[in-house]
Amino acid sequence: MKRFAKVIGTGGYLPATIRSNEDISKRVDTSDSWIFERTGIKTRRIAGPEETAASMAEIAARQAIEMAGIEAGEIDLIIVATGSPDRVYPSTGCILQHRLEIQQCVAFDVQAACSGSIFAMSIADQYIKSGAADKVLIVGSEICSRLVDWTDRGTCILFGDGAGAVLLESTDEPGVLSTHIHSDGGFEDLLYCPNPQVATASGKDEKGVIHMRGNEVFKVAVNTLGRIVDETLAANNLDKSDVDWLVPHQANTRIIAATARKLKMSMDQVVLTLENQGNTSSASVLLAFNEAVRDGRIKRGQIVLLEAFGAGFTWGSALIKY
Ligand code: ACO
Repeated sequence: MKRFAKVIGTGGYLPATIRSNEDISKRVDTSDSWIFERTGIKTRRIAGPEETAASMAEIAARQAIEMAGIEAGEIDLIIVATGSPDRVYPSTGCILQHRLEIQQCVAFDVQAACSGSIFAMSIADQYIKSGAADKVLIVGSEICSRLVDWTDRGTCILFGDGAGAVLLESTDEPGVLSTHIHSDGGFEDLLYCPNPQVATASGKDEKGVIHMRGNEVFKVAVNTLGRIVDETLAANNLDKSDVDWLVPHQANTRIIAATARKLKMSMDQVVLTLENQGNTSSASVLLAFNEAVRDGRIKRGQIVLLEAFGAGFTWGSALIKY
């Protein structure tokens, strides 16, 4: 019998502290109108001093487990996507496993920057399809605010903190229809965050903060996401009109609008969380998906296209029959 991965639970967590564009404009030379017009962002959440990627992941994961109506101990595999792990090791996945009081399952992290949740979903899908796992928890959790240089107006306006989770289970009907993931390390210099404690690849004295040539990233992102839409539809022999919802990575409304145009979709069919969350990197797609599932926009049987683009460059998509 053919096996598919089906979404049985979703969850999300946003820290309480809200940082507005006005707050940021007191720190750097920018304005609410510039940020909103260029990005679509008005506010973002900032994790408290006691919070970590694992603590936020736990809250999102427990919501997904509760929605699924299973015991945490039934989970076979935990994959956490994060670029802001609690520790270099153990993985945030292992820390989360312990927090969830699970003894036996496999747990690890994936690092694919903003595409991390799609990479995690792709790995989970392969494990379930192959029969290697029955129940897989994927979580994207990020404390971007601690990787941002709050004096750099080119990046500090963009990012926020949060966690999203999805629980997948094996079934005999779709399910995740397909996933498509890609990497091109040739763009390292356009978007990176050094780990100065371990290495300075360029030999430069760099801070451990996000460095981005935003305008160049923007152009590659728009073109690449256009191509991934074509690739995903062709692989499933589907037409643009077959897709009910677009759940994009929340980096910039102008990038998202370009992908929606490519799909000939109205913005009413696009799940947008950017305005009040900013770019939460690997958490953003799962947070948006959770929101639209829980408020009833995404309904059982509908076709949902998730996509993301991030540092690496990495990019990918997942087409799901919810
Ligand atoms: N406020 C006011 N002015 C600003 C700001 C700011 N916050 N930031 C830049 N500017 C200025 C620049 O200095 C420049 O001024 P100049 O013309 O005098 O030189 C001007 O605005 C235009 O700058 P651009 O960088 O060309 O602005 P752009 O329209 O490209 O917007 C932005 C910048 C919002 C960063 C955009 O390029 C973007 O969203 N890029 C993509 C980000 C992304 O998708 N990243 C991938 C995922 S993130 C991850 O993987 C971790």
